[in-house]
Amino acid sequence: MTTLTPILSKFWDHPQSWTLGTYEDNDGYQALKKALGMEQSALVAMTKDSGLRGRGGAGFPTGMKWSFLPPPDGGPRYLVVNADESEPGTCKDIPLMMAAPHFLIEGVAITSYAIGCNHAFIYLRGEVVHVYRRLLRAVEEAYAAGHLGKNIHGSGFDLDVTVHAGAGAYICGEETALLDSLEGRRGQPRSKPPFPAVAGLYARPTVVNNVESIASVPPILLHGADWFAAMGTENSKGFGFFSLSGHVTRPGQYEAPLGITLRELLDMAGGMRGGKKLKFWTPGGSSTPLFTDAHLDIPLDFDSVAKAGSMLGTRALQIFDETTCVVRAVDRWIDFYKHESCGKCTPCREGTWWLKQILGRLEHGVGDEEDLDKLLDISDNILGRSFCALGDGATSPVTSSIEYFRDEYIAHLTHGGCPFDRDASALFA
Ligand code: NAI
Ligand code: SF4
Repeated sequence: MTTLTPILSKFWDHPQSWTLGTYEDNDGYQALKKALGMEQSALVAMTKDSGLRGRGGAGFPTGMKWSFLPPPDGGPRYLVVNADESEPGTCKDIPLMMAAPHFLIEGVAITSYAIGCNHAFIYLRGEVVHVYRRLLRAVEEAYAAGHLGKNIHGSGFDLDVTVHAGAGAYICGEETALLDSLEGRRGQPRSKPPFPAVAGLYARPTVVNNVESIASVPPILLHGADWFAAMGTENSKGFGFFSLSGHVTRPGQYEAPLGITLRELLDMAGGMRGGKKLKFWTPGGSSTPLFTDAHLDIPLDFDSVAKAGSMLGTRALQIFDETTCVVRAVDRWIDFYKHESCGKCTPCREGTWWLKQILGRLEHGVGDEEDLDKLLDISDNILGRSFCALGDGATSPVTSSIEYFRDEYIAHLTHGGCPFDRDASALFA
């Protein structure tokens, strides 16, 4: 039985968990002091050895990403933290920044030192004003204590940190759209390559990492790469947040080694709400193909989830019970993708619009069985033909729901509408 590993969440229940004082009482900034006495290359090697993979969804090896930066040429290089958490169901970075922002700030300082960056940015969703204020305050505290600024702890290393709030667009979580937005332009994805590691912010070498990835760096440095690598599985090492939401008794953040199963997590979360039966769930947010109750024992690591036909993504486990209409849920998600499509490329801009049209009418029992083939055909024309991952992700709930719940789509047609009780009080009792 896998147990929880409260590391980044270990003092979240402290009444003032977000203050510098609480963080320092819990070994805060000890890792930074250790890092400043090390060679930069040793820090990159340690991160590689730990096996840490990006926690923003794609799972790219973090240390390897750092090592892709070209050799120093005397010009600036940047660290940009992607804190634009927006994937439906994904809700781990915001609680982390609210409850323990100094994990992120210490991670930013260590990473910046490791990659030779003197100005780091944290790019945050514009809507989360409370998180913005909390981060600004924490950055201020860190400057005042000498953890940021000039000649940090007498090391000769200087670092400024800017917290930047975007204007609220899902596409600005795509790393190159984020960089455009940070530069003051409309956020739309850039061509890759060149990857940001080579030409990122202001066309300079840039590391873009997710909040949870960077926040994991101080504990790795403090306890060692082997400590981290001993948790998780062969190709998915360490711990991470599993965010349970939806029809579950105790929704919330469960910090556990990668490879834990939904069955184990549900046991810890008090099971399905009201004792109802699990119907479907997302392993990593709505951009990852749905799973059903047949997937309860799939280890939640990158390889096992991929082998079972989905993606680990952001470990955003949205749980839906037997009272949920899957067609309605997919229709709601596609409405989101249609709205958030940046419009740059035709397959996604037009395709998400058509998916929404067809799903909307199917939900109301209008159409015929051929519409299901149309949904699959449109998805096929989006997947792999879109400019960025948003288009690809939009097809996941459509194709997987038809794979597992084709009968339910047909039932909408034979029933002349949604066969489920739409009484909200019944659904949310
Ligand atoms: P990707 O696989 O294209 O890239 C992942 C990272 O590795 C990027 O930082 C990229 O620059 C870097 N990289 C890849 N190959 C490289 C190379 N040869 N040289 C240098 N760097 C390289 O994935 P992408 O498009 O960045 O992210 C997609 C993922 O984002 C999805 O899997 C999804 O789960 C996740 N996502 C997360 C959201 C959230 O709210 N956290 C929102 C939407 C999607
Ligand atoms: Fe924009 Fe969608 Fe194309 Fe991405 S896939 S560039 S979000 S239109």
